[in-house]
Amino acid sequence: MTNNWWQDAIIYQLYIRSFYDANHDGIGDFKGVIEKLDYLDHLGVDAVWVSPHYKSPMDDNGYDVSDYYQVSGDYGTLDDVKKFIKEAHQRDIKVIFDLVLNHTSDEHEWFQAAKDPSHPDHEKYHDYYIWQPPKYTEDGTRTMPTSWRSWFGGPVWEYNEPTDEYYLHIFSKKMPDLNWRNDAMKNELKVIIKWLIDLGVDGFRVDASNHLEKNWDFPDGHPGYEHFSSLPKHHEYLEELGRELFGPHNIFTLGEAGGASKEEALQYCGYDSNEFDVLIQFGHTWADVDWDNQKTPGKWAKGRLDVPSIKQSFHHWYEMLGDKGHNVIYWHNHDQPRIVSHYGNDTVYRERSAKMLCHTLYFMPGTAIVYQGEEIGMTNVDYESLDSFRDVEVYTEYDNFMKLGASHEEAMQALRDRARDNARSPYHWNDNPYAGFSTKEPWMPVVKNYPTVNLKHQQAKSDSIWHTYHDVFLYRKQFDIAHGKVTFLDIEHKDAYLYHTKTTTHEALVVANFTDHATSVTLEMSLEGYTLLLSNYDPVPLNNEMRLAPYASYVYVKERGENT
Ligand code: GLC
Ligand code: CA
Repeated sequence: MTNNWWQDAIIYQLYIRSFYDANHDGIGDFKGVIEKLDYLDHLGVDAVWVSPHYKSPMDDNGYDVSDYYQVSGDYGTLDDVKKFIKEAHQRDIKVIFDLVLNHTSDEHEWFQAAKDPSHPDHEKYHDYYIWQPPKYTEDGTRTMPTSWRSWFGGPVWEYNEPTDEYYLHIFSKKMPDLNWRNDAMKNELKVIIKWLIDLGVDGFRVDASNHLEKNWDFPDGHPGYEHFSSLPKHHEYLEELGRELFGPHNIFTLGEAGGASKEEALQYCGYDSNEFDVLIQFGHTWADVDWDNQKTPGKWAKGRLDVPSIKQSFHHWYEMLGDKGHNVIYWHNHDQPRIVSHYGNDTVYRERSAKMLCHTLYFMPGTAIVYQGEEIGMTNVDYESLDSFRDVEVYTEYDNFMKLGASHEEAMQALRDRARDNARSPYHWNDNPYAGFSTKEPWMPVVKNYPTVNLKHQQAKSDSIWHTYHDVFLYRKQFDIAHGKVTFLDIEHKDAYLYHTKTTTHEALVVANFTDHATSVTLEMSLEGYTLLLSNYDPVPLNNEMRLAPYASYVYVKERGENT
């Protein structure tokens, strides 16, 4: 087994825009992160993954980069970035940057030249992006090259009059896709990556990494994802970066890709693969979709939570990687709703369900990620008006819902349940105005429950969600859970989440109810030697037959003797 720092790391995903605003302009910044490094250290995290901080018009909160060499003025200066890296390292916290390689902003100078035939560098930059000529109907009307649908809703094509062509954007139209078949483009990206490495970062989260290759025959299809996602050749590009840059410079990489087969999983992140160290996959993240809903379809329709499918997804990944790769565990990131609102219960059982989610996740092996605010049980947003939302995706999808016949209220509910903005509202530090995030009105409204849901309050209460996270992180390290072997029990149980993880020194047994009603479980294993470590209810004796109250969770542990 290889053993690197990232294998047992707890990574804090930090959404800089909403973390802490040190200069009080309403937007989180690097100075704010630096001020809060002691907090992160105290929480017990080993690394921070910072959302994109590069110069950007912020159409997609920085995933639309207009200059990789500059820091967004919203977040500070290059000196602030260097200071942040230095101060993090002084606390033994590693730094992971988000690396956006699939597209740039349309305001990037490459695209400015690419779209404009009169630009002196037009020839050079045109092919850095992906262009197709229009199609015409019989009556001569101009139409798009294909009917592929963007990940943010709407078409992937945008017409560019000066060249009489369409460019491809699989995300927003302000994010044209880069052409990875163009070597000059690829080489420029490599120079950028090397420059970032030289700043002293320890790792990258490689954004949208399975989309780099497209089907250049441009066959029609709707939505057509198979033509611009997970095409075999994208592995070649990733392999090349790993071999030339990440490997030689000892840079940790977290890839991002959904739906991989066993071969592909190992290709991405097997120990002998050059592509990534670990992969963020999404198998467990949308286990509650109502697929019959036609008005706010797909992920936007909240349905019944399918608890077995969550367990099966994790199990599947442990099986696929086996001892040939290392898994990642996380509940959600900046693209999914808050976990306590999504899989827990953010009304009567907020505290209990948040603790249950902590217990069930962090006694499983792998590299662990925690998302900003998860550790204090922050909830989805409560916005009543459409213009409180900020995400570019919200606006394309809202129009789509209207076309599909949803009422305004149905659309708003879908957004409050599922929009990416749910995870992006400002962090609740305390009960001061704007939750102590800033003294100025924040870039996006604070959720109204901050007077009770905030860090200060959580730290003051000894049995809070925050203390649960803090303690669980300590135990996770102490028992070396990251390198353990997990076994799910009664995986088909529709309410309960039951497993044990065996490490070289300990065995941890997690018994939890994932629902808002009581349920019964049967533990078919020997329970000898286990003692209660943590729970979110009063202790109950461990038994082969147990009745679990709503969201109850218990973690039992035993030391392993010589022959167990
Ligand atoms: C990834 C990011 C998401 C972003 C998209 C385009 O999926 O996680 O936030 O919008 O890529 O860069
Ligand atoms: Ca600021």
